[in-house]
Amino acid sequence: MHESPDTLWLSLLDEFQRLERQAEKILDPVTFQFISSGPNSGLGVQVYLDAFRRLRLIPHPLPPGGDSDLSVTLFDTTYPTPVMIAPTGFIGRVHPDAELALAGAARARSVPMWCSTYTAKALESVQEALAGTPWWYQLYWSGNRDLTRELLRSAEALGSSGIAVTVDTGPIPMRPAAMIAGFGEQLASDPVQRVRYPDPSGASAAGARTLSARSPQDAMLDAAALEWICESTTLPVLAKGVLSGDSARRLLDCGVRGVVVSNHGGQLLDSAIASIDALPEVREAVGNDVPVLLDSGIRTGSDVVKALALGANAVLVGRPCLMGLAVAGEEGVGRVLDDLLWDLRVVLAGLGGGSVAELEPTMVRREP
Ligand SMILES: Cc1cc2nc3c(=O)[nH]c(=O)nc-3n(C[C@H](O)[C@H](O)[C@H](O)COP(=O)(O)O)c2cc1C
Repeated sequence: MHESPDTLWLSLLDEFQRLERQAEKILDPVTFQFISSGPNSGLGVQVYLDAFRRLRLIPHPLPPGGDSDLSVTLFDTTYPTPVMIAPTGFIGRVHPDAELALAGAARARSVPMWCSTYTAKALESVQEALAGTPWWYQLYWSGNRDLTRELLRSAEALGSSGIAVTVDTGPIPMRPAAMIAGFGEQLASDPVQRVRYPDPSGASAAGARTLSARSPQDAMLDAAALEWICESTTLPVLAKGVLSGDSARRLLDCGVRGVVVSNHGGQLLDSAIASIDALPEVREAVGNDVPVLLDSGIRTGSDVVKALALGANAVLVGRPCLMGLAVAGEEGVGRVLDDLLWDLRVVLAGLGGGSVAELEPTMVRREP
């Protein structure tokens, strides 16, 4: 049986809030704002957290078993947990170890990790820290095919399990104050920015700093670009940032082999639908055989169970890992993951035991 943690940081929402308050004391205000809120004082974050609270679980007697089985299968690969670390960029200011700390915590628990296009550490070093733990590469479309080919080749060579193309950001500058702070420091190390601004101290880089990494003049990701990306890699491609059945189907038509239901953690549109509310429609639209992942608002074991019961194959966790990273580096991320996985087992046991594969929509009811 899995070891019970000494104290639970995360089994309840208020545990996460305590961690967030600790992070606020440690980080500079702009960095804290960047990892904690979204537009309009984090309205979108609140909306998606509330959406999880409106869902209630209905215990069903499941076939009795021993320890609960958390494993899930995606693209013929079995992963030991349905919980994965979400890709988050510009986190060099959150902790000096940045992705290396995330990777170390992921490796120690065999939790798959997603790497942002905007890593603070070289992808090679992150892959080394993962030491064989499965990982996925998240790709932002820059409009530059040579650069994209280079990024895809490097993800393939370093053993990525797949590519997630983020489709929800478009040309919107993301909260300039927070982005500028991280962006300035990353101009030199980030592969995308290195190509765009070979001289990080030059005038055009300085101009870019006042906008964001994604300015309106950047090429939009359209169907042709997405088809090209899917044809340009041997790896399975997922589209990250899907919130309707229609768009999921259109993305599949472009060649993606799975989708991530996500509102980008409420960072972009404060009025976007909560991903957990969009999930049933997306699952219905793509059928049972297409991998569907979900993020935006996973804080507790119940949240994971609700997402899996409503049709997700796996979930990604963003901010909780970043708060753990801010407070205690790799150890902090590890405690967040341990507590979340422990809480997941407790909730599964409360539902009747068994494996995550047995979760189904009838176990969730929406309160008015
Ligand atoms: C600070 C921060 C940076 C992020 N950077 C990226 C990124 O580089 N690429 C991406 O696809 N999503 C990015 N996201 C979105 C996350 O991958 C994910 O969708 C979101 O954080 C999940 O919601 P949660 O934080 O409530 O778990 C970022 C989110 C945050 C909070």
